[in-house]
Amino acid sequence: MRTDVLRVDPEAPAKDVIARAAAALRAGGLVAFPTETVYGLGANALDAVAVGRIFAAKGRPAANPVIVHVARAEEARALAADWPETAARLAARFWPGPLTLVLPRREIVPDIVTAGGPTVAIRVPAHPVALALLAEAGVPIAAPSANRSTSLSPTRAEHVLRGLDGRIEMILDGGPTAGGLESTVLDVTTAPPQLLRPGLITPAQIEAEIGTVWRSAGEAADGPARSPGLLRRHYAPRTPLECVTEDGDALVEELLRSSERVGWIQFGSQLGLERPGLVVKVLPREPAGYAAGLYAALHALDTMGVDRIVVTLPPLTEEWLAVHDRLRRASAAR
Ligand code: TXA
Ligand code: MG
Repeated sequence: MRTDVLRVDPEAPAKDVIARAAAALRAGGLVAFPTETVYGLGANALDAVAVGRIFAAKGRPAANPVIVHVARAEEARALAADWPETAARLAARFWPGPLTLVLPRREIVPDIVTAGGPTVAIRVPAHPVALALLAEAGVPIAAPSANRSTSLSPTRAEHVLRGLDGRIEMILDGGPTAGGLESTVLDVTTAPPQLLRPGLITPAQIEAEIGTVWRSAGEAADGPARSPGLLRRHYAPRTPLECVTEDGDALVEELLRSSERVGWIQFGSQLGLERPGLVVKVLPREPAGYAAGLYAALHALDTMGVDRIVVTLPPLTEEWLAVHDRLRRASAAR
């Protein structure tokens, strides 16, 4: 299969490009597209065969359900058997935006989307390309991140191409995504609602809207997980990755002495180390800026072929929860 890459203006996507992508989706094809978080790999969510092709292209385990993207909250209600007050409030406050709500499903949602479970995860993405595609396709779009299973999520079209070239029909290239980390996943079928995956919307932001949220995402990685996609090792570059605290230069020194080529992702400050075999990437000391740049930095170090990636950890405060979650999974043993 040839994968067509179509450039599209992220602010004002051209009608003819969106029409081509929507036609491919309606015909059962797979189209990768930018959202405000990461690139998604889309298929018509009401077409079980098309959604099955997502699982095949990604090598995704069938037990891992996918997020359904819709253009408006009313469309989410049409897929959910119940629409609790918490969902109404959160949708009004955060949609379009990087918050995914887990709701009781209706029959019309195919089993493959929910991994056979009683719930469906839904969000309204805040990206002009995603919204134009949803409007033109006229169907809900099932879309996991557009990467092979367990690897790094893509924040640029070239990342998508690296993993999925020849396996999908089309990529809409709308440039780098602004958010950089996946959406927050919140189960609103329980009381209190349960955080299943930390993301760009923090628990504090959610609690300001609906009161107490159960933060169990850290533990959900083992056992019969509430969110089957929370694998212990996930979001990982090909290169072995290790995390260190802020005075972690000893590890880097040691690796360099043993002639390893090291990619070091620093936190906020350039330590001024210039050494043969060392590539330094500096990410901002502020969660949104850090999230926006993390995957791109990891993709870049992977492509350069360093032997090891060392990441200096940000502080353990809650505004960094999503970043810590991804780094922990990225550094988990294979
Ligand atoms: O930002 C995002 O959420 C991106 C963009 C493309 O929207 N999508 C994304 O999808 O990250 P994916 O498939 O890579 O991650 C979806 C997460 C997984 O952890 C999955 O287990 C969970 O959502 N999930 C999906 N449906 C669920 C359900 N019914 N119940 C519990 N968890 C669910
Ligand atoms: Mg993913």
